Amino acid sequence: MSATRPNHREDSPLAALLPRAPRCLRLAELPTPVERAPWLDGASAEVWVKRDDASSSVYGGGKVRKLEYVLAHPPHDGDAPVVSIGGIGSHHLLAVALFLRPLGRSLHAWTFDQVVTPHVRTNLAVLMSCGVRLWDVRSRLGIPWAAARYYLWERPARTGVWMTPGASSELGALGFVSAGLELARQIEEGALPRPQRLYVTGGSAGTAAGLLVGLALAGVSTHVRVVSAVEPVFFNRFALRGLARKTLATLRRDAGYAGEAKLDALLAGAGVTWSIDHGQVGAGYAVPTEAGRAEVERSAGRGLRLETTYTGKCAAAMRAELARGEVSGPVLLWNTHAGNDLTPLIEPGWEDRLPRRVRGLLERESAR
Ligand SMILES: Cc1ncc(COP(=O)(O)O)c(C=O)c1O
Repeated sequence: MSATRPNHREDSPLAALLPRAPRCLRLAELPTPVERAPWLDGASAEVWVKRDDASSSVYGGGKVRKLEYVLAHPPHDGDAPVVSIGGIGSHHLLAVALFLRPLGRSLHAWTFDQVVTPHVRTNLAVLMSCGVRLWDVRSRLGIPWAAARYYLWERPARTGVWMTPGASSELGALGFVSAGLELARQIEEGALPRPQRLYVTGGSAGTAAGLLVGLALAGVSTHVRVVSAVEPVFFNRFALRGLARKTLATLRRDAGYAGEAKLDALLAGAGVTWSIDHGQVGAGYAVPTEAGRAEVERSAGRGLRLETTYTGKCAAAMRAELARGEVSGPVLLWNTHAGNDLTPLIEPGWEDRLPRRVRGLLERESAR
């Protein structure tokens, strides 16, 4: 396949705010719309949805916002393969594979097993159809074993450059700093009222960390409720605060941001508060819950595609809190999931490219 080079984005809200906006590729179609979602309303809370599902005709959702920055900078801006981690149905791996493909670049993936829902199966089929190579292990705890195989025993001809899980480095988080500024602009323009509470899901922290910084820089006073899709050991207030601090430091060092306030003071000054809810994780990361499934079904008929690992659980948390009357006033649900139908990309025979153990897992699951 002949490689194409993407353009750079000059019109990001970060570029309007900072003297030296970090380089950024034009991969996403921004701004994404905001819409009312009356079927999600509580008794005294109107719900709006930030439609990041519409952020790209290649693969939308939140990942493309991060990749615009990550793929624009070393070590990911060259032509080397990328190596990263995720579940066998990981949205992160899928996004990286789909955005590397037109550049003629490849993805090496260290994967761990997930419950094989139809959604996970489709994602895995697309990964294999894109030519992604897997170094698979059973669980997240086995990832060091995948790393050992990758670097020591089964070295690929060209070793990949490491990409942080979820592309949640400080550079990746810049995509969501920009998203926070984008939302501020939409509020100013009257596209939606300032939300009293903003619901967003969290896994590797980049989305929420960037949003906190972006909303604070723009002075959007709100409460960010981060609904975790993973257990507290993997995502917690230390991880989120740590990445938000590093993101702010990057803006100072590389983008000429002159504000001197530390993260907590910046947030307090802007009236941005935040909390993490681990109450929807259920039996574990990527294990569907009843409440999450119900949200996926409820929204599907209304043209909003959620999924059971992240956004269904986030909507379930919002529904529970609105039902308890915890919020009155406008609320925003940030839909970070891609809405694209990827089935046309699936090539016949994709299963044959799976590592034997993963193929066995799929066969056992389909026999159930
Ligand atoms: C659909 C979706 N929403 C949200 C997230 C979480 O974002 P982050 O990893 O930046 O916390 C992910 C992560 O993979 C995701 O796939």
